[in-house]
Amino acid sequence: MKKKIIVENLTKKFGEKVILENISFEVYENEVFVIMGGSGSGKSTTIKHIIGLLKPTSGRIIIDGVDITRLKKSELIEFIKRMGYLFQEGALFDSLRVWENVGFYYLENTNMPKKEIYELARKKLALVGLKGIEEMYPSELSGGMRKRVSLARAIATDPEIILYDEPSSGLDPVTAAIIDELILSLKRELGVTSIVVTHDLQSAFYIADRIAMIHKGKIYAIGTPEEIKNHPDPVVQQFINRKAHGPITKEIIKKS
Ligand SMILES: Nc1ncnc2c1ncn2[C@@H]1O[C@H](COP(=O)(O)OP(=O)(O)OP(=O)(O)O)[C@@H](O)[C@H]1O
Ligand SMILES: [Mg+2]
Repeated sequence: MKKKIIVENLTKKFGEKVILENISFEVYENEVFVIMGGSGSGKSTTIKHIIGLLKPTSGRIIIDGVDITRLKKSELIEFIKRMGYLFQEGALFDSLRVWENVGFYYLENTNMPKKEIYELARKKLALVGLKGIEEMYPSELSGGMRKRVSLARAIATDPEIILYDEPSSGLDPVTAAIIDELILSLKRELGVTSIVVTHDLQSAFYIADRIAMIHKGKIYAIGTPEEIKNHPDPVVQQFINRKAHGPITKEIIKKS
């Protein structure tokens, strides 16, 4: 299997605070790689490095054999075209209509006629289960709809790699299931490589080829859903099986 993304000894400090400590993992081509972990554990920070929004304090991020931490800004912009990124907060432009948000890349960077961009946006919106909202503004939509518009934008350029930061948070279970199926169909039909950050265990176990568990900026486990379910580390068990394991144990507090 081809290694599509390699994160090598990634360390990130904000000031004196160590947010990520020597994180390493690899994502294979056409894999759905899920990152799980508690709030503040460093999940968003990790994927922001992969899209080049943050520079590591030390370590490397290699995508298709290229160390993106060494690219010039112009080279990076060119490089990340092949990647889609769903921001945790959605990050839509409030002053733009839905279709303009979805087609933003084409409006900004190409001479494609507006009519075609509109049509492309309409198709991508339909993929995430949204119809007839092309002319609306983000402020007129519910939180879940905004999330799906962001998702439509992330897939608008048919990227080879898609990074999803909490794609189904704030969505009802039916819509969340639609998003899961979309992630899987992009993998199956277009060969997309995905990294998905999620808190949703059911979704993680359903969509993941492999799961990484991150806690306080360190990786505790990487494995298939089955391996993670049976992983002996108490931090992992606590996270995936909180109810069955009762209150936080002394061992977990010690590790925190
Ligand atoms: N720009 C920044 N400056 C300083 N600290 C930051 C910055 N961005 C993130 N942090 C800190 O890094 C830690 C990890 O944040 P991150 O957003 O990666 O967590 P997360 O795992 O995505 O959490 P959540 O599940 O709540 O989204 C937090 O303690 C956060 O306060
Ligand atoms: Mg986050």
